[in-house]
Amino acid sequence: MVIAPSILAGDFSKFARELKRVEKSGTDWVHLDVMDGHFVPNLTFGPQVVANARPHSDLFFDTHLMCSKPEILLEPFAKAGSDLITVHVELEDQVASLLWKIRSLEKQVGLAVNPPTAIEKVKPYLEKIDLLLVMTVNPGFGGQSFIEECVPKIQQVYQWREELGLDFRIEVDGGVNQQTAAECARAGADTFVAGSALFGQRSLTRAVKKMHKTVTQVSEGYQK
Ligand code: DX5
Ligand code: ZN
Repeated sequence: MVIAPSILAGDFSKFARELKRVEKSGTDWVHLDVMDGHFVPNLTFGPQVVANARPHSDLFFDTHLMCSKPEILLEPFAKAGSDLITVHVELEDQVASLLWKIRSLEKQVGLAVNPPTAIEKVKPYLEKIDLLLVMTVNPGFGGQSFIEECVPKIQQVYQWREELGLDFRIEVDGGVNQQTAAECARAGADTFVAGSALFGQRSLTRAVKKMHKTVTQVSEGYQK
């Protein structure tokens, strides 16, 4: 079970310090939200910020590209020090070549699916990925409410993974708090992105540890 605090909810003027805070909270992952102002109606940061941050952190850089043209960004992010790069299945006919390109850059491969998109769209790619990201809000902004209708998608992906004997991670992102994380864990998620629910607490460390404990307990019950 992995908790990936989303830096989007941190203070961008203190990027390196926020990464240290995440590292000290006891988790190994940080989630980096890259928005291009086109695929989503918001902008964040590019590869230069990641490259500057890299020497300050040993965290696993889980890089979520919410971008219409990720092909121009894959190499820059790979060079900047991203460990995993996720692109969206909504990019349709570009998806296969994007996944291949990430693999060829020797990075872990992620595929994300937005709430309105049918989960069947990801099925052809399951053998090619290390992580499937089920979006539980419409991407673009932190602090939105969890969309309950996305939970059956997690169950479906979990079932496909079992049937196909694969081992990609199942990540959820958007409106994940202590309660919804437990619900997602019950449905089969193993990787939890959370921004406002963690950074909004006085102690990030306590919030991360609590979420980790909750989802671990749920999954231990689940797998018997
Ligand atoms: C949403 C981003 C999320 C965001 C989640 O577009 O992909 O990673 O940081 O924020 P919370 O946890 O506040 O919903
Ligand atoms: Zn994200």
